[in-house]
Amino acid sequence: MQLAEVREGLEGVVVANSSMSWIDGENGVLIYQGYNIHDLAEKSTFEEVIFLLWNGRLPTQAEFDDYFKRLSDERQLNDQEWDFVRRYANSQVHPMAFLRTAVSFLAHSDPDVEDNSHEANVRKGFRLTGKMAVMVAAFDRIRNGKEPLQAKPEWNHAKNFLWMLKGREPDELEARAMDVALILHADHGFNASTFAARVTAATLSDLHSAITSAVGTLKGPLHGGANTRVMQMLLEIGEVERAEQWVLDALARKERIMGFGHRVYRTMDPRAVHLRELSKKLCERIGETKWYEMSEKIFEVVHREKGLWPNVDFFSASTYYAMGIPLDLYTPIFAMSRVVGWVGHCLEQYAHNRLIRPRANYVGPKGLQYVPIDQRT
Ligand code: SDX
Repeated sequence: MQLAEVREGLEGVVVANSSMSWIDGENGVLIYQGYNIHDLAEKSTFEEVIFLLWNGRLPTQAEFDDYFKRLSDERQLNDQEWDFVRRYANSQVHPMAFLRTAVSFLAHSDPDVEDNSHEANVRKGFRLTGKMAVMVAAFDRIRNGKEPLQAKPEWNHAKNFLWMLKGREPDELEARAMDVALILHADHGFNASTFAARVTAATLSDLHSAITSAVGTLKGPLHGGANTRVMQMLLEIGEVERAEQWVLDALARKERIMGFGHRVYRTMDPRAVHLRELSKKLCERIGETKWYEMSEKIFEVVHREKGLWPNVDFFSASTYYAMGIPLDLYTPIFAMSRVVGWVGHCLEQYAHNRLIRPRANYVGPKGLQYVPIDQRT
């Protein structure tokens, strides 16, 4: 029975009103709660963006200091959480599969787990944001036989993550590059993982369940998993001179070039503008400009051949690579930032909720007679 025309992938379907973020795909505009992403990337910090996304306005200095401290206080794990990390941090486990289980595990020692009040969900938001960064960094150190490191209360989230991951104090450029990357990935309208979180929250299930749904959704290569595949592509191409033919061959095989295309943007993803600059600066700093140059060549060819533009995942790959971050941690870093957007969307969903339950046209058979199993051939 035909209920209505199916909108594959919900393309163009508007399912809610939201003040979290707005994307103008035709003009390449992204705003968080009214503020343009270019201003936030140039002038803000990840901690300030957390306040903005969860409160709908920029903080006063006192409010900023409070959020900075509340996040800092949550950049630590209890004994059971450390036991969990030590047990599962090994090279057989996909880091996003680890993070999916880790988020769910964090529920077991969260005193507010079944409290869906706004205040309790904000407390859980700080714990999830603080602990996810610790767990991602610790996962990599432990799987490499190193001891995990404690965060430093006086440093911000971005600088602490790089310290906990690499065991050395990041310099100004690296720390700011990570802070900008966290700002750029924090929210993006009703993308697949955010929608997954909202569908879960809309049943009035708990926040940890909603964020677990989101992590599992972000893992996919068509969504958050693309950044790792972009770097794998660059490494496979190897040299700038090989890039054009490699891309032409891939397109001839009808393959997708990771990091390009978007369901909403029909021009340059504004986030890619900043990541492109960071990739250039960081690749120059390590003396390996070929990863940036190769990215520019791939951009030129894909745009010329398919009219596609880079999305957030394209230049983030060479940016993270130039910071010495392992490839399979790129998507966990995406999740460590986007958890702030997921929490903000869940706060919005809980505050004005209706169960999310679409329909489908039934295309199966009808009127079949039941035949006992001993009479079936
Ligand atoms: C993120 O939604 C968000 O906001 C997501 C995100 C966020 O911040 O949350 O922005 C983060 O997920 C970015 C996207 C990361 N994924 C990738 O980079 C994977 C590669 N990109 C694609 O698979 C694709 O572009 C999507 C999934 C991102 C969007 O796909 P759509 O909107 O469903 O478009 P489509 O698959 O219908 O493609 C339309 C046409 C097709 O050509 P035809 O078959 O009609 O001839 O464009 C082509 C596609 O083949 N196309 C590509 C392509 N992306 C689309 N061709 C080659 N390479 C690509 N990357």
